Amino acid sequence: MSRGVFITFEGSEGCGKSTQVQRLATRLEQEGVPVLVTREPGGTAIGEKIRDLLQFAPESFAMTPETEVLLFEASRSQLVRETIQPALEKGTVVISDRFFDSTTVYQGVARKLSPEIVEALNAFAVGAARPDLTFVLDVDVATARARMLRRVRPAVVVDRMEQEPVEFYERVCAGYRELAKREPDRVVLMEGSQSASEIEQQVWDTLSRRFPAVAPANKSEM
Ligand code: TMP
Repeated sequence: MSRGVFITFEGSEGCGKSTQVQRLATRLEQEGVPVLVTREPGGTAIGEKIRDLLQFAPESFAMTPETEVLLFEASRSQLVRETIQPALEKGTVVISDRFFDSTTVYQGVARKLSPEIVEALNAFAVGAARPDLTFVLDVDVATARARMLRRVRPAVVVDRMEQEPVEFYERVCAGYRELAKREPDRVVLMEGSQSASEIEQQVWDTLSRRFPAVAPANKSEM
């Protein structure tokens, strides 16, 4: 049996990637393709506990950048071995809402940790489970922040990352654009200000070109 395709979605908060993850999964399921959807941090029992800590550890815990990166990698190591790798081996298409590019960009570029150390940690955490195709939804910082603040959530719950200043998110957006330039064969930068349906169609078209066995082209285009 051939290995499944591993697809990841990336971008700043509020870029619309979670909607696209769901839309792509639904479309693949309609085509009869086995799909597994997951997310980072989280996706396993251990990972969800780590996610909670990463998102909601109070300021008084004073989490260091080094601790933060190791927690993201710990969550990832568990997810890869418990979920992603076994699914790929069964021929399942795996779609992850964020993966190691988030660490490259958030902890490497935006938090300014050593890019070499981040790369080595990523490699250790993922082993052979590297994405085949990554979609980055590119939105400007102002749009991303406005969408992020509109999220429905109890007023008392404040996400740790969302408290970062605007300069942090400017580095995140720039980091993703740079990544797309560096790895054009894998990373596809998409204009995130388009409608969800337009993006969905472009995602499908890209997948059809790269992996026609998984995503047949639209009949009208054949
Ligand atoms: P989100 O997936 O709902 O956008 O939230 C995850 C948050 O964690 C988001 O602020 C990005 C951040 N993050 C990192 O900083 N590094 C990582 O490696 C991952 C997976 C997420």
